[in-house]
Amino acid sequence: MLVVKNARVATMTSAQALPGDGPLGFIEDGAVAMENERIVYVGPSSGAPAGETLDAGGRLVTPGLVDPHTHLVFAGDRAHEYAQRIAGASYLEIARAGGGIRSTVRATRAASDEELIECATKRLRRMLASGVTTVEVKTGYGLTVADELRMLRIAQQAGAAAGCEVVPTLLGLHALPEGLSREAWIRQVCEELLPAAAHAGARGCDAFCEEGAFTRDECSRALSAGQALGLAAHLHADQLSDSGGAALAASLGCASADHLERTSTAGIAAMASAGTAAVLLPLAAWFLRDTPAGAKPFLDAGVTVALGSNLNPGSQRMESVSLLLGAGCLFCGLTPAQSLWACTRGAARALGLDDRGVLEPGRRADLVLWDCKDAAHLPYHAGVEHALTVIARGIVVANRESACN
Ligand code: NIG
Repeated sequence: MLVVKNARVATMTSAQALPGDGPLGFIEDGAVAMENERIVYVGPSSGAPAGETLDAGGRLVTPGLVDPHTHLVFAGDRAHEYAQRIAGASYLEIARAGGGIRSTVRATRAASDEELIECATKRLRRMLASGVTTVEVKTGYGLTVADELRMLRIAQQAGAAAGCEVVPTLLGLHALPEGLSREAWIRQVCEELLPAAAHAGARGCDAFCEEGAFTRDECSRALSAGQALGLAAHLHADQLSDSGGAALAASLGCASADHLERTSTAGIAAMASAGTAAVLLPLAAWFLRDTPAGAKPFLDAGVTVALGSNLNPGSQRMESVSLLLGAGCLFCGLTPAQSLWACTRGAARALGLDDRGVLEPGRRADLVLWDCKDAAHLPYHAGVEHALTVIARGIVVANRESACN
């Protein structure tokens, strides 16, 4: 039995991202005890069971963070596109000129399994050491049946190597592969790739609904095929234009709609009725010099709000948990407590995972001891990492003497 004592325990037991400190569900001078990968006690330190003790010294303890949107298996570098964008080119212009997603597809196909596993493992290890214990990883840079399945396998192998739980998602409709008709690729995705991916351990399916990517009908076909195989559906929706993506995600019963920079009020209302979570990606909007989605209309409508990093080589290459929490506050208008809730309970819900994101008996023993007492310190002192001790499934997987000051 491992027992973390003398902590400010942010349980996240509030079912919604309430205003102020509401969502944190604090227990002062609290303890969390765990055994066999599960939490067995959360309450005052004075009532904690006996066991190997970790004294938190009055610091903040939260659930392990969940990142519900990444594209972190890739090869190559698109720093030159970053420079082009700063000089005024748009994301779509760069893509139309042969750059963008397709350039990463070429680099990823050319890389060996070993290279891809090594890069992805390094990224996952950095995330884990920063407090992220569950990471959703999308395919989408393979774009043949064999290359997409290879990406899925590499995501799983990198997760195992890093000691971080990877939730793999098949993103076949990310871009149209060169040399194939739209209909031919969509049929391959629906008839061959999704069944093979579900068999190989994919837990979700996704599609990029956008002008220059895929239409609502095409996305609907692929996501329905994935759902019929038991996969949780997600949709890249309304990022560059209001393409009715949020409403489509809601009508399909998607677990989440992601991006949402240009979602209409009607789209938000549809998400609220369907229980589709909003995964906001403010670092991507900043990276693309776009306007991030504000959280308020989603919160006011009763939509679950989650934050994701969207780590990928083209539209978001910043790796920092504290920066993401800060972007949630500065760009989306969340309070520091809501930002933390959106990276834990909200993000777990967006992936359909109800066994984590909350500190309660019976849930997974994924938690983080932070080198601060106040949740607001994390977004306030953004750009450095604050996780002191990271525990995944009841085991200490990262430990530092001091994280920052
Ligand atoms: O979520 N929008 C589509 N997919 C990624 C970008 C991927 C890339 O540019 O390589 C995103 O932003």
